[in-house]
Amino acid sequence: MLPKTLCFLTLACTIVSITICSAQNASELKGQLALQGIPALIQGDSGYTAASQPYNLRYTVEPIAIAYPTTSEQISTVVIVGASQKLNVVARSGGHSYIANGLGGTNGSLVVDLSQMKNITVNPVTGHAMIEPGNRLGDVALALNDAGRGLPHGRCTYVGIGGHSGFGGWGFASRMWGMTLDNIISATVVLSNGSIVTASEGSNPELYWAIRGSSASFGIVSSLEFRTHPVPSSATAYNFTWQMDIPTASAAFSAFQSWALNGSSVPPEFGGEIKFLKGQAYGQVELSFFGNYFGPDAKFNETIAPFFERLPTPDFANVTQGTWIEALAAIAVGNLNTSTHLDSNDTFYAKSLMAPEDVPLTNESMTTLVTYLAEVGFNSSDFWHVEVELYGGSRSVINQVGLNNTAFAHRNALFTFQPYASSPNLLPPYPKNGFSFVDGMVESLISGMPNDWQWSAYPNYVDDRLPDWRRRYYGAHYDRLRVLKAELDPTDMFRFPTSIEE
Ligand SMILES: Cc1cc2nc3c(=O)[nH]c(=O)nc-3n(C[C@H](O)[C@H](O)[C@H](O)COP(=O)(O)OP(=O)(O)OC[C@H]3O[C@@H](n4cnc5c(N)ncnc54)[C@H](O)[C@@H]3O)c2cc1C
Ligand SMILES: *[C@@H]1O[C@H](CO)[C@@H](O)[C@H](O)[C@H]1NC(C)=O
Ligand SMILES: *[C@@H]1O[C@H](CO)[C@@H](O)[C@H](O)[C@H]1NC(C)=O
Ligand SMILES: *[C@@H]1O[C@H](CO)[C@@H](O)[C@H](O)[C@H]1NC(C)=O
Ligand SMILES: *[C@@H]1O[C@H](CO)[C@@H](O)[C@H](O)[C@H]1NC(C)=O
Ligand SMILES: *[C@@H]1O[C@H](CO)[C@@H](O)[C@H](O)[C@H]1NC(C)=O
Ligand SMILES: *[C@@H]1O[C@H](CO)[C@@H](O)[C@H](O)[C@H]1NC(C)=O
Ligand SMILES: *[C@@H]1O[C@H](CO)[C@@H](O)[C@H](O)[C@H]1NC(C)=O
Ligand SMILES: *[C@@H]1O[C@H](CO)[C@@H](O)[C@H](O)[C@H]1NC(C)=O
Ligand SMILES: *[C@@H]1O[C@H](CO)[C@@H](O)[C@H](O)[C@H]1NC(C)=O
Ligand SMILES: *[C@@H]1O[C@H](CO)[C@@H](O)[C@H](O)[C@H]1NC(C)=O
Ligand SMILES: *[C@@H]1O[C@H](CO)[C@@H](O)[C@H](O)[C@H]1NC(C)=O
Ligand SMILES: *[C@@H]1O[C@H](CO)[C@@H](O)[C@H](O)[C@H]1NC(C)=O
Repeated sequence: MLPKTLCFLTLACTIVSITICSAQNASELKGQLALQGIPALIQGDSGYTAASQPYNLRYTVEPIAIAYPTTSEQISTVVIVGASQKLNVVARSGGHSYIANGLGGTNGSLVVDLSQMKNITVNPVTGHAMIEPGNRLGDVALALNDAGRGLPHGRCTYVGIGGHSGFGGWGFASRMWGMTLDNIISATVVLSNGSIVTASEGSNPELYWAIRGSSASFGIVSSLEFRTHPVPSSATAYNFTWQMDIPTASAAFSAFQSWALNGSSVPPEFGGEIKFLKGQAYGQVELSFFGNYFGPDAKFNETIAPFFERLPTPDFANVTQGTWIEALAAIAVGNLNTSTHLDSNDTFYAKSLMAPEDVPLTNESMTTLVTYLAEVGFNSSDFWHVEVELYGGSRSVINQVGLNNTAFAHRNALFTFQPYASSPNLLPPYPKNGFSFVDGMVESLISGMPNDWQWSAYPNYVDDRLPDWRRRYYGAHYDRLRVLKAELDPTDMFRFPTSIEE
């Protein structure tokens, strides 16, 4: 019989792999956690397979165990037990990582599932919100709205606040209120040695810096305190679509950029994106323009007028005006109340490209992308889109935050592109040519730009095929993050495919 310290899954171990098998026994691990009152699922348990299902079904990941703590102290216990067995430990909030990092991204991690930690309280005096990391964005929006408050964040209601606020958090209120992480004023963090600490300007300031852009490499955030904002008194939700040929769509893209760059056109209360989808015929694309505007209702038309003057009449238009929460619901993907339906899933590959505001896209670059989408994209059987999200422009709060104030390293983007392709039926297997198809979207955009163009990438659209991810995600912040990583996590316990290395 094999000594148990060599291998935890006797059947999975061959003579060759014994030497690399780590020293765990999953049922012992489960037993140790149970003694501390912490439930966990391991392989063989009913529920384990469903609980280890990533959002992106392109990945199959088998954690050694998935633990369900309810307090910071229990998280600390899980971390200490994991450390004693030299396991990778990872947090899972909403589980929407594009590359299954909430499950560790590789097999054998100890997953700290935060779904039992859903408390949200709003201090009526300060407006500060304490939000536990098991919450999804839709539920956060509803709870804050009940107190007349709001935060900037994305429109997919099932995304977790843990990952979203750990790496960015962009939504249609971000030009007026910043990224989600810009609103964190303090956090409780469980470190690799099990200590429970506060990270804020006055307490562990370097950790406070790091969790706002690269949280998962440094600890498990067990509670977040946000500065919130009074909800705007009115809000517009808008959505326009067009079928366009290549010249028309290229000119529309160019008009969108000119409008965004015009210092007097787009106030911070304006949030939006354009999105390219498959056209109805070869040589065409569908273009949509949608978002929220939080300024006075009557000013919406004049705000978009300089852009719309250069566009054909939309094939479809839907503009509704109402309250903040109605505007969020109108553009949401998923119901705001996430208890009403099960979470969804997809089988996809996505990338990102953040285009700096100081080197605008050339017409050649925009036309090359549109041509690729109208031709190669039309012939693809994948279900695809390219989002072009407005980050910059006049007085955008995202870009008013100092570059070094947070670990989030992107304070000069005009647009964040998200090229994305799902398998044709949204289920595995993922077609091999999906990768080169999506790579081609980025390549076509880059091909029309100068060779030394300094584009970067958005860490919440995380991509494990991005070769120079350290520089693209973190720029000059990477070295500073490494120093802190060596200090706070010397054994590299919080490890996953795109974690900060020592
Ligand atoms: C359908 C969809 C729509 C999206 N729309 C937007 C959008 O509009 N805007 C936008 O900015 N992004 C958007 N995203 C990207 C999203 O912000 C990221 O995928 C985000 O990281 C997911 O967070 P999560 O908690 O759901 O994921 P998880 O997989 O649970 O976590 C993601 C990463 O964060 C870590 N993490 C999670 N919780 C904690 C914690 N408490 N402490 C430390 N580390 C933690 C995990 O270990 C993992 O590395 C979207 C994603 C999807 C799938
Ligand atoms: C793992 O631990 C359980 C419970 O302690 C024990 O019954 C089992 O034999 C161990 N398995 C291995 C491979 O050591
Ligand atoms: C995890 O293990 C399963 C079963 O052996 C395998 O199919 C899968 O590819 C592995 N996942 C990763 C990310 O290596
Ligand atoms: C939620 O927070 C409130 C206020 O801090 C506290 O009274 C309550 O006990 C918390 N609930 C849970 C389940 O932690
Ligand atoms: C845990 O690590 C932190 C940061 O390095 C340190 O301040 C603290 O003293 C450590 N705690 C224990 C119990 O070792
Ligand atoms: C780019 O295209 C737009 C729209 O077609 C056009 O108005 C503009 O003159 C072009 N710019 C350059 C530099 O060619
Ligand atoms: C910039 O925007 C202002 C206000 O909308 C508009 O009057 C002006 O014509 C725009 N300039 C250009 C070059 O588009
Ligand atoms: C805005 O424009 C739309 C479409 O042209 C029009 O129906 C609507 O009445 C306008 N709203 C205002 C407030 O002018
Ligand atoms: C327009 O948007 C509103 C708000 O989301 C929605 O209720 C309505 O169904 C939409 N209308 C159309 C025609 O899509
Ligand atoms: C915009 O309208 C199109 C066409 O009806 C629809 O497919 C799309 O889902 C809408 N988008 C948003 C954000 O409402
Ligand atoms: C969400 O829906 C659930 C189930 O229908 C319900 O019990 C709960 O009260 C709803 N929550 C909110 C904030 O509306
Ligand atoms: C994916 O989502 C679909 C639709 O909600 C659901 O029927 C299916 O069971 C899910 N698949 C997995 C593997 O979670
Ligand atoms: C940010 O920090 C780096 C490295 O310490 C420094 O070189 C740079 O000047 C700082 N940038 C700003 C905008 O403060």
